[in-house]
Amino acid sequence: MIPGGAHTYAKGDDQFPEEAPGFIARGAGCHVWDADGNEFLEYGMGLRSVTLGHAYGPVLDAAARQLGDGLNFTRPATIEVAAAERLLGALDVADRMVKFAKNGSDVTSAAVRLARAFTGRDRVAICADHPFFSTDDWFIGATPMNAGIPAATRALATTFRYNDLDSVEAVLRDRTVACLVMEVETTEPPAPGFLEGVRRLCDEHGTVLLFDEIITGFRWHNRGASAVYGVRADLTTYGKALGNGFAIAALVGRPELMELGGLRTDRERVFLLSTTYGAETHALAAAMAVIDTYEREPVVEHMHAMGRRLADGVRQASREHGLADFVGVAGRDSNLIYFTKDAEGNRSQPLRTLFLQEMIRHGVIAPSFVVSYAHTDADIDKTLDAVDATLAVYAKALSDGVERYLVGRPVKPVFRPYV
Ligand SMILES: Cc1ncc(COP(=O)(O)O)c(C=O)c1O
Repeated sequence: MIPGGAHTYAKGDDQFPEEAPGFIARGAGCHVWDADGNEFLEYGMGLRSVTLGHAYGPVLDAAARQLGDGLNFTRPATIEVAAAERLLGALDVADRMVKFAKNGSDVTSAAVRLARAFTGRDRVAICADHPFFSTDDWFIGATPMNAGIPAATRALATTFRYNDLDSVEAVLRDRTVACLVMEVETTEPPAPGFLEGVRRLCDEHGTVLLFDEIITGFRWHNRGASAVYGVRADLTTYGKALGNGFAIAALVGRPELMELGGLRTDRERVFLLSTTYGAETHALAAAMAVIDTYEREPVVEHMHAMGRRLADGVRQASREHGLADFVGVAGRDSNLIYFTKDAEGNRSQPLRTLFLQEMIRHGVIAPSFVVSYAHTDADIDKTLDAVDATLAVYAKALSDGVERYLVGRPVKPVFRPYV
């Protein structure tokens, strides 16, 4: 009934080995149970959206209380003001405005539209080293899976490289770029001066700087990766962890830009994020409970500590199995990914599939090593046992051939033009 068998490509059958659990029936903390009742430890946590753990009580309670008062009215709900104050206060950006929506894609696309209207320019510069910004045409048109997107739209996208200021300057120089879209950090940390340089170049060339903090927002720091590195964008987008799984995203930005979508502007109006469900009350209540939890408890510190322990353990296990050059972890401790290489040192999808397969056999679903506040020392220890057993098979596969150990076909990248 469902094309691709999933509502997000990253959850699809082609992303997991054939023996992976087909469906998850329920979750608690960082544990999930599949439709057959098998229990697994989980990493990735709802495409990084669940940082506090599945079914986290205080967030569910806040949402449930709000449900009893109704979800959607004819005029704005009082909680819309409370949630706006709470988010801008938590981010310590009282000089900014906010608009809520349901999806990260929607707020990031809204930011692009604002930037185009503000600058009167059409082109968008996208960071080529960052994987995803939106389901909308302006971004998908720049991927290899761009069927259905007009050539005219595709022609408006240009790219630059992370940590390469020359490439930023090259795309901005002719002053046709409305906005520069990037994450503050993914797997590679910013080189000294890079973010400051991006800020300066955007100012010099009249380009709007957009930081997508949909992953980093409540994972790097309570106030996001911008606060870690002390560089502010003109427009910043949040989502994922903000709702601990509830659908809530936010566009936060300078009033000069945001008011183009409001009622206090003399300029031509921008149609900015006007959706039926954008301010659903229970999702706003959930977001406020998430922020309360982050401010009350050491959520980000815990994720970093668990990730560090896991990264150290995986690196040690890799060394012990003689696989240090073939299996490793990368990225910030609160947002780890791993790599799987073949005997020639090239990234290998069959070996990634084998790694996933063996981890699942040992009770761990790990498309990444992205931890949550719910992961404990005991969970990390269990994961490291699974890694140890997995690497034993991996080492044999490197010498004997992966096909001897892999059940079924390998996984494939999401962004490919043909199945
Ligand atoms: C960095 C980043 N930006 C934007 C999005 C889009 O968010 P959503 O799936 O909520 O539309 C994602 C989703 O994975 C993302 O990782």
